[in-house]
Amino acid sequence: MMDKNAVSRVPAVLAQADRKLKIAVLFGGRSGEHEVSLDSARSVLAVLDPQKYEIFQVGITHAGSWLTGPDALQALASGQTDNLLPCTILPDPSKTALFVIRSKDQGQVQENSKFEYEHSKYEYEKLTDLDVVFPVLHGTYGEDGTLQGLLEMADLAYVGAGVTGSSVGMDKGVFKDVMRAIRIPTVESIIVLRSEIEKSIEQVIRQAEEVAAYPLFIKPANLGSSVGITKCNSRADLGEALLEAAAFDRRVLVERGVDAREIEVSVLGNDDPQASVPGEVLPSREFYSYESKYVDGTSGLLIPAPLPPEVAEKIRRMAVDAYKAIDCAGMARVDFFVEKKSGAIYLNELNTIPGFTSISMYPKLWEASGLPYASLVDRLVDLALERKADRSRTERKFRRTS
Ligand SMILES: Nc1ncnc2c1ncn2[C@@H]1O[C@H](COP(=O)(O)OP(=O)(O)O)[C@@H](O)[C@H]1O
Ligand SMILES: [Mg+2]
Repeated sequence: MMDKNAVSRVPAVLAQADRKLKIAVLFGGRSGEHEVSLDSARSVLAVLDPQKYEIFQVGITHAGSWLTGPDALQALASGQTDNLLPCTILPDPSKTALFVIRSKDQGQVQENSKFEYEHSKYEYEKLTDLDVVFPVLHGTYGEDGTLQGLLEMADLAYVGAGVTGSSVGMDKGVFKDVMRAIRIPTVESIIVLRSEIEKSIEQVIRQAEEVAAYPLFIKPANLGSSVGITKCNSRADLGEALLEAAAFDRRVLVERGVDAREIEVSVLGNDDPQASVPGEVLPSREFYSYESKYVDGTSGLLIPAPLPPEVAEKIRRMAVDAYKAIDCAGMARVDFFVEKKSGAIYLNELNTIPGFTSISMYPKLWEASGLPYASLVDRLVDLALERKADRSRTERKFRRTS
């Protein structure tokens, strides 16, 4: 059984703070999962304890502009962003702060207004120092290592995986190759490039059919929320599915379709990560599509998943091994298929910023494992600070002795 004490073992960095921690919560973003991120952020903001944290909301628009204001979430959700201030973080470790961008000669810089950026003088005004950044961003430019790169440059503490864990977790092709290297079973698949699809789709279809018999799943390699994914039951579906996936990414995954139960595990921690009890998803449609995830509202979650204890244990171990292999930190949800006919376990994917509404699988699994939602959020902040403290121990200068 899982060690319930394990979840309270992290050093109490937070408890030692003698003032409120200044935390920037980032949401929205340049991703197909922008709206999902707003939902996740709403839940996170609702539980961050104002006694412990001074909270700064940063909304990132679809176009990638950063905007701040006391109720940036509501503003982004309603599209009424006029009262928000353009803001940024600088890749300079001597300035770990949130800056508002002001135009010197024409008032405020307008979002997306290249003209004003080019023709006005503007200045950075420090809005606040920051202790922690909490990216509640799903998908590209939020969960894929790019934002994490900026936060590393800035030497800021941030919630979740670093550059490597984020980017490897994001690319379904590279991730599976790493799993194969550590002998964690994944469903047979190949990666094809958009340029190959454009050059000769017939050749790619031939290659795809060598992966396995139908059904085949076609997916963009770097996306989430089932966007761009098609289940192909015959060759007739394949061409269109490849073009659809290629519209979303330059790398496309072709994978054997399995008739499987979908089991998910939440992992939490830095160097000594712990796994929650597994949960099961019961999709409302033929597969766990975008509609099934967010539109129908009828996909069920079974927590804990009804699995023989030894199978649950094996899945939890694999989740932790996968997490460590790609150098995750903070959190991740690790998703599995258990093939109905054979009982074979396959690791499907790892999400470094999983859906985080209070009714999402990630926090629900922790709740079932003895860690309530609000404590989970505190814990993630603690883990971010712990990781930053560890990072600061790394020697950056090599002094030649001769
Ligand atoms: N090889 C597969 N066999 C059967 N179902 C699959 C397969 N790949 C994906 N699916 C279905 O599609 C859903 C989304 O695919 P997934 O790889 O998890 O991408 P995403 O990152 O968009 O969640 C899965 O939850 C599952 O229902
Ligand atoms: Mg998935």
